[in-house]
Amino acid sequence: MSALTRIKKPVEKEMAEFEAYFGKTMHSEIPLLNIILNYVLRRKGKQMRPLLVFLTAKLNGNISEATFVAATFIELLHTASLVHDDVVDDANERRGALSINALWNSKIAVLVGDYMLSKGMLISVEKNRFDMLEIVSEAVKSMSEGELLQLQKARKLNITEDDYFKIILSKTAALLSACTACGARSVTVNQEAIIMMKDFGENIGIAFQIRDDLLDYESTGLTGKAAGNDIKEKKITLPLIHALEQSPGSKKRHILSIVKNKKKTKSEINEVISFVSDYGGMDYAELKMNQYRDKALAIIDSYPDSDVKNSLKEFVQYTTSRKK
Ligand code: IPE
Ligand code: IPE
Ligand code: MG
Ligand code: MG
Repeated sequence: MSALTRIKKPVEKEMAEFEAYFGKTMHSEIPLLNIILNYVLRRKGKQMRPLLVFLTAKLNGNISEATFVAATFIELLHTASLVHDDVVDDANERRGALSINALWNSKIAVLVGDYMLSKGMLISVEKNRFDMLEIVSEAVKSMSEGELLQLQKARKLNITEDDYFKIILSKTAALLSACTACGARSVTVNQEAIIMMKDFGENIGIAFQIRDDLLDYESTGLTGKAAGNDIKEKKITLPLIHALEQSPGSKKRHILSIVKNKKKTKSEINEVISFVSDYGGMDYAELKMNQYRDKALAIIDSYPDSDVKNSLKEFVQYTTSRKK
């Protein structure tokens, strides 16, 4: 049994119901839009966010309709953000297939992403769950800010470790903390529990993005997206930031000149990857990631033992060890 299948066990029924519900939202009367929505739906991702919503809901009470609203809204928003992200990152692959911008074009990808986001917002409005709308809208705002800060830093190539953490807190951890906050909020009004869950999700989110950035250096062939794309797109992530800080000035200038160059050869990208490895960039990122993993585990440990708690602990472990 795969790790995710095992983690899903306590909310298996809800996840199956969610999938049917999610599928229904991915529909339109406009033929072109419908074709693309179907294309996206057929290549589903790991669904870690809805899983996190259901598990944190069950940890704090009884799963309700609001839990389904949050899970669906968040997965729609996440999917929309990936469709947009591939335009921004000029990425041709997603989930082992061509990205929307590669298969159709960027204009279409922008519009389809907007459509999915608005569908998500409408679900919250239709079900009168303005609390979910508020939590998730905050995350949407934060994600745009994070992506823009990242672009700003990529233009100047002057990103520091502090900047990096600020970026990933906004672009990734904001949504994972929305998952855990919505999960809790959908079953309780206890403010203390909601805040604690939000903090839990934030730590998972930071660890999640560091793992994603490490995967870009690992080329396991399992992610369904090309390795090395971050370097190609001048995206300087933690492994490279650290390696640059550790290296002598001349080396640093040489590596930065490669990164800066618009057209990079495969061997130049490999040179950057070896450089990062030689200067301990991956090891350092792993160390940092594990600190956030441990913070998340410490929070969850304050709850009484249960199968849901165990699943959440495994969820955290999976986040930081996943190969895709
Ligand atoms: C990818 O998220 C985007 C990041 C925030 C790094 P996932 O790895 O959860 O993507 P899917 O949904 O499983 O494809
Ligand atoms: C995460 O960053 C993207 C979002 C938060 C939307 P990445 O650009 O690293 O994500 P991948 O690697 O393309 O999935
Ligand atoms: Mg990307
Ligand atoms: Mg990435």
